Amino acid sequence: MPFYQSPKKISAFDAKFEAQKIAFAPVTFQVARCLHKFGLLNQVEQSSNGTTLAQLCANSNLSEYAIHVLVDMGLSMGIFWHKDDCYHLDKIGHFLLHDDMAVKNLNFIHDVCYQGLFDLDEALLQGKPTGLKHLGDWKTIYPGLSQLPKHIKKSWFEFDHYYSDHAFEALLPLIFKTKPKHIVDVGGNTGKWALACTRYNNEVNVTIMDLPGQLEVAMKNAADNHVADRIQPFETDLLDDNKPFCQHGDLYWMSQFLDCFSNSQIINILQRTAAAMKPDSVLCILETYWDRQPYEAGAYCVNATSLYFTAIANGNSRMYHSKDMLKMISEAGLYVDEDIDNIGLGHTLLRCKKKPN
Ligand SMILES: C[S@@+](CC[C@H](N)C(=O)[O-])C[C@H]1O[C@@H](n2cnc3c(N)ncnc32)[C@H](O)[C@@H]1O
Repeated sequence: MPFYQSPKKISAFDAKFEAQKIAFAPVTFQVARCLHKFGLLNQVEQSSNGTTLAQLCANSNLSEYAIHVLVDMGLSMGIFWHKDDCYHLDKIGHFLLHDDMAVKNLNFIHDVCYQGLFDLDEALLQGKPTGLKHLGDWKTIYPGLSQLPKHIKKSWFEFDHYYSDHAFEALLPLIFKTKPKHIVDVGGNTGKWALACTRYNNEVNVTIMDLPGQLEVAMKNAADNHVADRIQPFETDLLDDNKPFCQHGDLYWMSQFLDCFSNSQIINILQRTAAAMKPDSVLCILETYWDRQPYEAGAYCVNATSLYFTAIANGNSRMYHSKDMLKMISEAGLYVDEDIDNIGLGHTLLRCKKKPN
């Protein structure tokens, strides 16, 4: 990991400026969102010689006052530059407008997290997702996912899928290397991975273990894709030891799943997985670990995502350091047979097997 291992090289003057940016971070976030929402980034981009305030006003429903405060803050944020009364799009503005990841992250933070993060201090004190009340009345976000208002659900799923979708294509050949006939997708959500597997290999069967709301959507997707005979739903709640666990799969698959649980819950789930595995079964864990990110931007996004789990999702899980996950895997009676970094957008695949008795 090439970052965070020594003091940042920055002058006191610049560090003071960075501290002000943190103090005003909710302002910059909302300004970026409004510049997007009201089409002002687009408008400035479209005029190759720059745009005046009057031109922006002529094409907008917003008042001159509203546009003026937004674009002036946009200058301070490095989104625009300004000369001879004209605003021009700068590089940061370009990426805010065109970088998919920035757009998905922005929508997710606004729709799913923004209000709930106000309660972060209480969530930290109580170990409960105290910010979740802004979305609904559930113990964790997972039973509520299928009931979220449409635009919030869209932002949640686009955020979740953005990261896993980028990894799936590269993963299929790695996963089918051992020729599994029965894959158990633990926390399989809407069935995207199960569908990708059935498309890739025309013999494999996939069982999706998940909560009822997600399984309903997954099975509709399986039927729409004419593979309902090869994808089986397995309804369970992995926080309840009395609920069943799918036995004897050739390959257990956990993608962006274990980060939804605390350390003790992960050890329990992995122990139950090990107990369900045959001696030659494989468990594949796909996660983004902050210490395995090739770039500092990745570690920033991964660490920031942890606080969504704290304040909104469940109050006790996070994006882990790989060493913590490796320790939990070993404690559960498994060992890592293969460890592959840099899949998709900073994902790591851990291929695990049962320790011999
Ligand atoms: C972050 S999503 C990951 C989805 C998918 N595997 C992917 O890679 O995009 C986590 C999944 O775990 C499921 N999940 C969370 N808590 C669960 C529980 N207690 N029992 C069963 N499934 C659970 C959620 O419903 C959700 O589908």
